[in-house]
Amino acid sequence: MQSLDFSCYRNIVILTGAGVSAASGIRPFRGQEGLWNEINPLKSADSSVLQTNPLAIWQLFGTLRTQLETAQPNAAHLTLAKFEAGFSSSQQFTLITQNIDGLHQRAGSRNVIELHGNVNYTRCSNPTCSLTAYLDKSPHKDLLPICQLCNYPLRLDIVLFGEQIPAKKEWLAKRSLRDCDLFIAIGTSGTVWPAANFVRSANYVGAKTIFINLEPMKPKNPYFQEEYLGRAEELLPLLFNIDVTPH
Ligand code: APR
Repeated sequence: MQSLDFSCYRNIVILTGAGVSAASGIRPFRGQEGLWNEINPLKSADSSVLQTNPLAIWQLFGTLRTQLETAQPNAAHLTLAKFEAGFSSSQQFTLITQNIDGLHQRAGSRNVIELHGNVNYTRCSNPTCSLTAYLDKSPHKDLLPICQLCNYPLRLDIVLFGEQIPAKKEWLAKRSLRDCDLFIAIGTSGTVWPAANFVRSANYVGAKTIFINLEPMKPKNPYFQEEYLGRAEELLPLLFNIDVTPH
């Protein structure tokens, strides 16, 4: 496969989804191997479950913490990190991810907006509590953790169905899209808002738009001008012409 020439772009925005972490052993939500083929997300990952059965949210996503103890960034993460590292000071690079696994940062990516939060962090479920989110390795699958400041249940610092994206993150993402000249979405089914709509904004400001995924988007999104189908961990090093093999 021939590599793409990105040298003329000054303001690049990349959106990633669960497909980028598949080769690291993290299961995507949709598609053939998707978690939501087995579990109904509206019943198990909805914000209402925080009220009715908060331990169930820990049981569903806490497992990811255990997996992340051993999971490693794969060639897709490493390619994007190396791509960003090669940028000049006159270029802007923003990596917006829907992933909650923190693998982009572990690969070395710097300007990352974690739209849906980070599963490695715990925070209080009481919106008025002063506890700041903190790094926490425990999956808390057996016993609901309680906030020492206010006695409310603690929760994962992630965005559940029915919850808003934190305002600052949404604002930063939208600001990056406002004047981007290249937008690439990788490993996402393109079904969850607001990220699903980002390509439309990028197209509106005249950016080149590219979709890279294992399977075509269903239904097809007309705002993508180019599409490359395959595994992100195989396609990205080729398309970006970046060597990520360990030496
Ligand atoms: N390389 C590229 N794409 C892949 C790979 C791979 N190795 N493996 C799977 N895919 C594709 C799947 O075919 C699917 O189209 O990645 C896509 C992943 O889609 P989703 O699982 O829907 O992930 P995403 O788009 O990130 O989901 C958005 O939905 O449930 C919520 O909060 C969750 O952040 C998530 C959001």
